[in-house]
Amino acid sequence: MDKLLLRGNGPLRGELRVSGAKNAALPCLAATLLAREPVVLRNIPHLRDITTTLELLSSVGARILVDEQLGIQVDPCPVHSLVAPYDLVRTMRASILVLGPLLARHGAAEVSLPGGCAIGSRPVNVHLSGLEALGAEISLEGGFVKAKAARLRGARIVMEMVSVTGTENLLMAATLAEGKTIIENAAREPEVVDLARCLVAMGARITGAGTSVIEIDGVDALHGAEHHVLPDRIETGTYLVATAMTGGDVMLRRTSATFLESVILKLREAGSEILEDGDGLRIRMKRRPVGVDIRTAPYPAFPTDMQAQFMAMNCIAEGSAMVTETIFENRFMHVSELQRLGAHISIDGKTAIIRGIPRLRGAPVMATDLRASASLVLAGLVAEGETLIDRIYHLDRGYEVIEEKLGALGADIQRVRTSRSVA
Ligand code: UD1
Repeated sequence: MDKLLLRGNGPLRGELRVSGAKNAALPCLAATLLAREPVVLRNIPHLRDITTTLELLSSVGARILVDEQLGIQVDPCPVHSLVAPYDLVRTMRASILVLGPLLARHGAAEVSLPGGCAIGSRPVNVHLSGLEALGAEISLEGGFVKAKAARLRGARIVMEMVSVTGTENLLMAATLAEGKTIIENAAREPEVVDLARCLVAMGARITGAGTSVIEIDGVDALHGAEHHVLPDRIETGTYLVATAMTGGDVMLRRTSATFLESVILKLREAGSEILEDGDGLRIRMKRRPVGVDIRTAPYPAFPTDMQAQFMAMNCIAEGSAMVTETIFENRFMHVSELQRLGAHISIDGKTAIIRGIPRLRGAPVMATDLRASASLVLAGLVAEGETLIDRIYHLDRGYEVIEEKLGALGADIQRVRTSRSVA
């Protein structure tokens, strides 16, 4: 298993290019299963979760081609299986996203239940009750969700809780349902809007994406299209925090402040200067960060996927700060690892209280989930001495060539390949 070795090395400086959003690319890839013709997706990041999704699409029979500009073309015509197997689903919960499209397009689907996950139980009940409202017959057998419906029927669905992939699954399914579907209490995340844009390019009729009420007029078939996936706001946010923590000056290209308002607000509160500049954002930090309180909640509030990174920043900030996690019940696993680096953090239920100290000290630590891993990388950038991060396969699920991107900004970071490493 690969590890990352970091040595605290002063301010990050320079320019980097933000990749396409993983959490938009995944539903768009699933959406290709709805079409009757090939769909081309651009700006797809090169990540483990994407490879898993491509394997999943191939396993049901879709043909995948990479074109000369690295666009990914998915031809759904040869699909012959409607089963998403446990081996693939267990490595990536977002595999549940193929349930809606397979069911809507082929009248049946069997998707393995994702099972537990490091950051909480993460059930899929709202995906299933929404599909039932659209007329699907759902059963759970042998660890699989089995769904059937000759043709889905439009319906009014009030989602019991705001779920991002839940909204995406229902949105995709409803595009081919007979009649109108209204999804209330829908997730408003930019990735939902990006998926809706992709579906509209394929011929779907959707209004209201980005608000909490989405209306879909079902159509008989969807056609081929080309879609450019939006920039990754969490990757952007992670590099903004890295720069703020190291007192650096970095230009992030091919991204935007539009979808990051709550994060940028908090970074400014911490003392950084952030300017929009052409196709990107420039951040400068001339002081030690000031501790900032955050509370995660669905978009447009502060994203849970940025919680761990802000926790890392608060560890070396001036003053104390409170971090409250309201989305996932077990998303403080980075705390004990940050404590190994010397951080002063105490937990009281859903809230962590952090007393900032001037310097962390390097130590061997273990990554536990995707964003927790990112927080350890950030801490390693400013820790005195060596930080060795184990289990970085979590990081490879969501950050494209993180060691190259940070290395180009002056960080002392290297991947240590061990003999048991799998290519
Ligand atoms: C998506 C993102 C993930 C992000 C999360 C919250 C993708 C691929 N992943 O995950 O990076 O951290 O949104 O912004 O886009 N819930 C239920 N029942 C359900 C569905 C969800 O109880 O049927 C709960 C979850 O346990 C969680 C909350 O609802 O507590 C929000 O989860 P959800 O928005 O569904 O997260 P994901 O879509 O899995």
